Amino acid sequence: MDGNGRWATDRGFPRIAGHQAGSESLRRVVRAAPDFGVSTLTAYAFSCDNWKRPAEEVDAIMALLAWYLADEIPRLLADRVRLSVIGRRDRLPESLVAIIDEAEAATSACDKLHLRLAIDYSGRESILTATGLCAGRDVTTERFEQMLAATNRGGSQPVDLLIRTGGEQRLSDFLLWECAYAELVFTRRMWPEFGGQDLAKAIAAFRRRERRFGDVPAALASRLPTYSRERWLH
Ligand code: FPP
Repeated sequence: MDGNGRWATDRGFPRIAGHQAGSESLRRVVRAAPDFGVSTLTAYAFSCDNWKRPAEEVDAIMALLAWYLADEIPRLLADRVRLSVIGRRDRLPESLVAIIDEAEAATSACDKLHLRLAIDYSGRESILTATGLCAGRDVTTERFEQMLAATNRGGSQPVDLLIRTGGEQRLSDFLLWECAYAELVFTRRMWPEFGGQDLAKAIAAFRRRERRFGDVPAALASRLPTYSRERWLH
């Protein structure tokens, strides 16, 4: 959800006005997502590195998150959206943790879309925590992913599509393990201007991609000659 600050500054507004507008974009995208077959949507709202921002902006984002969640519960229930928050909770304001708990409990049975908000989240930190939970045992992919799911409160499924707005082209510590084979879509659109049409465009781009997961293209595989040592090594 990049570009809130620049969107606001370009219009002569304080940065928090951009975050406020960004929360409305999130609402629009959550509404539109199930129509495109999206079942899980994870939005990066606040990273562990975002604590470096001026205290005034951090406080305003925390207040906005609490306000957004409190305001959103009836809409989430009506739209059958289950909300989960991933990330650390020990540094969040108590009032925000209380509303997160309430929103998660209230929407736990909703099954149309799983909305995950990443708050005080770091992909590297969740990998370290999951590795620590494997301590003393062989770290297999399966066990590691179970521990990562526990770290992320039940979710560590692979990401299919990662959309980054605001013209940046980096991962910024977001779902690093889960993005191993994610298709990346970057757009210059600032997050407050992002809407259902942009989501449709990103998903159309995703559908045009051929996902091979390290394999060869299916069409080519059937035409490959059988491996012959004599033929290829001499
Ligand atoms: C990224 O834009 C935005 C953030 C780090 C803040 C979190 C996002 C929101 C508050 C919007 C969603 C809101 C809710 C309540 C879920 P930026 O500040 O890095 O913008 P910039 O790149 O233009 O400086």
